[in-house]
Amino acid sequence: MHRIVVCNHKGGTGKTTTALHQAAALGLSGHRTLAIDLDPQGFLSRMMGIKNPPEERSSLALFDGEDRSLSDIKMHRVEGFDLLPSSKRLTKMIRSLNKPTDVLWTKEALDEGIDYDVVLFDTAAAITVYSLNALVAARHVVVPVTPEYQPVVGAEQTFRTVRMVQDQLNPDLTEPRFLLTQVDARKRTHDMYRQYLRDEYDDLVMDGVIRTSSALAESYEDGSTVFKRNPQSRGARDYANAADEVLRRLKGAPSSNDEAAREVPSSPPRFSPS
Ligand SMILES: Nc1ncnc2c1ncn2[C@@H]1O[C@H](COP(=O)(O)OP(=O)(O)O)[C@@H](O)[C@H]1O
Ligand SMILES: [Mg+2]
Repeated sequence: MHRIVVCNHKGGTGKTTTALHQAAALGLSGHRTLAIDLDPQGFLSRMMGIKNPPEERSSLALFDGEDRSLSDIKMHRVEGFDLLPSSKRLTKMIRSLNKPTDVLWTKEALDEGIDYDVVLFDTAAAITVYSLNALVAARHVVVPVTPEYQPVVGAEQTFRTVRMVQDQLNPDLTEPRFLLTQVDARKRTHDMYRQYLRDEYDDLVMDGVIRTSSALAESYEDGSTVFKRNPQSRGARDYANAADEVLRRLKGAPSSNDEAAREVPSSPPRFSPS
């Protein structure tokens, strides 16, 4: 089973859009896929039409201390994949999750065995016990990054967080892969930040990019994805290609210990449009 976290400490970089469309693309291509929404704001769940799920059928069930495995939870079937949606109570629950071992809940639930090929986590734009749970449970990290100053800063902070988790909590975690999102070929600064990331991080930057796509900007909250609404759109094609690339990379991924330690720059340059 492949376990992938989608995260970037900056908001609005396309995390939820990526988690949702990667899950849908993998599901449509025949992979048994589970998406787990660990963002208390629950945008992914809402986009899939699930607003107030029963708590025992939400990601809250991972943290309630009940002795149950994931296979005991009835998942929500959405477009080609299963979803464990977010719950409003995650925000309150965070106050009681303050022990060091509280970062282990999700890993323990997954390790008990569950019948999926891929599990994908969507996370909030902050380091919380929920995003740490995802990083401890996973092996792979996809960092959606719009090629602009603040998202790149967030992506580099995320890189450092991943390294910290790798050192202290989860040695199986591999180096993150950057996925460029909302790329606008007409913006000179987009080109410059894209080049900056390629120069600094080389093959950690995925080849495929997600261009701006009006089909992705529209939010329906009706449970449909762009693959159903507009399969010919740029958004559908870009996410289908990105999912193929993620799978290829997962299959050929070296273990984290084989990878040479990479320097993370202290901060990216500031390019201005002109
Ligand atoms: N490739 C894209 N083209 C156009 N709009 C996009 C694209 N990706 C995301 N968006 C829009 O940008 C906003 C932020 O995306 P979202 O996935 O919610 O980011 P995050 O989860 O990182 O906060 C949303 O309104 C979304 O519809
Ligand atoms: Mg989000």
